[in-house]
Amino acid sequence: MYTASQGGVRCGLKKLMESLVFKTPEKHHWREIARLIADSIPNSIVSHLGVPFAALYYEHIAKKPLSCCYAVFDAMNNLAGVSIATLDRTQSRKLTLILKVKLFCAANVRILSLKTIHWILSGFFNIDETNNNEKGFPKAELMVIAIAPQYRGQHLSRRFLEKIEKFFKENNVNNTYLILTEYSNLKANRLYGRIGAKFIKTNTYHGKKINEWHKSLA
Ligand SMILES: CC(C)(COP(=O)(O)OP(=O)(O)OC[C@H]1O[C@@H](n2cnc3c(N)ncnc32)[C@H](O)[C@@H]1OP(=O)(O)O)[C@@H](O)C(=O)NCCC(=O)NCCS
Repeated sequence: MYTASQGGVRCGLKKLMESLVFKTPEKHHWREIARLIADSIPNSIVSHLGVPFAALYYEHIAKKPLSCCYAVFDAMNNLAGVSIATLDRTQSRKLTLILKVKLFCAANVRILSLKTIHWILSGFFNIDETNNNEKGFPKAELMVIAIAPQYRGQHLSRRFLEKIEKFFKENNVNNTYLILTEYSNLKANRLYGRIGAKFIKTNTYHGKKINEWHKSLA
């Protein structure tokens, strides 16, 4: 049975969603962005290396001319979601020596953790497989999408995807873009299937099962 309080909640939620504003992140937003990504995608190595590392890493990638990044804020200026995409996956991940040193310092003792060492070694022993998989990757990539828990389930991710796809089209990406997500991330995999992305295969990347999706812009 429909109750007045349910109607009130729905109305409040609608207003909350309407109050959201898309912005290009500024310098002071990156720690909050890194925290949201780390909480949302805790198994990623970037998340494991800590918020200072992740903030520096994502800020660097997002600021490259080949990339685009959108963050959404609510009326109280709280971060509701973030997404980063790039026109060239390989180029956007290239790091200068200075940045490598800064990242090393930001990671601090986490660089010596068992998880990091496992990540490095499993990458090293599977380098041929990884290189082989990467040969078939589209150049453009949706790198990250993370919605704050209280804003999930409202199709906010679709609004991000519309903006990212607009960016790709404006920059002459005329075929497909890449999406990689953990095999075990059911919600994300379901979302990508629903938006019409094509499941390619499950790859092993640094010892983890990663699903490869290609999304057409047509
Ligand atoms: C995956 C993700 C981006 C989807 O964004 P979204 O805007 O919530 O997407 P939708 O509104 O379409 O909802 C997706 C699912 O969450 C469900 N959902 C509803 N309310 C929810 C809530 N309060 N909390 C979590 N999920 C909820 C929806 O019903 C839907 O489930 P279904 O696929 O079984 O139908 C978001 O859940 C997220 O940020 N997850 C953590 C980060 C992540 O995994 N990113 C992808 C890898 S880079």
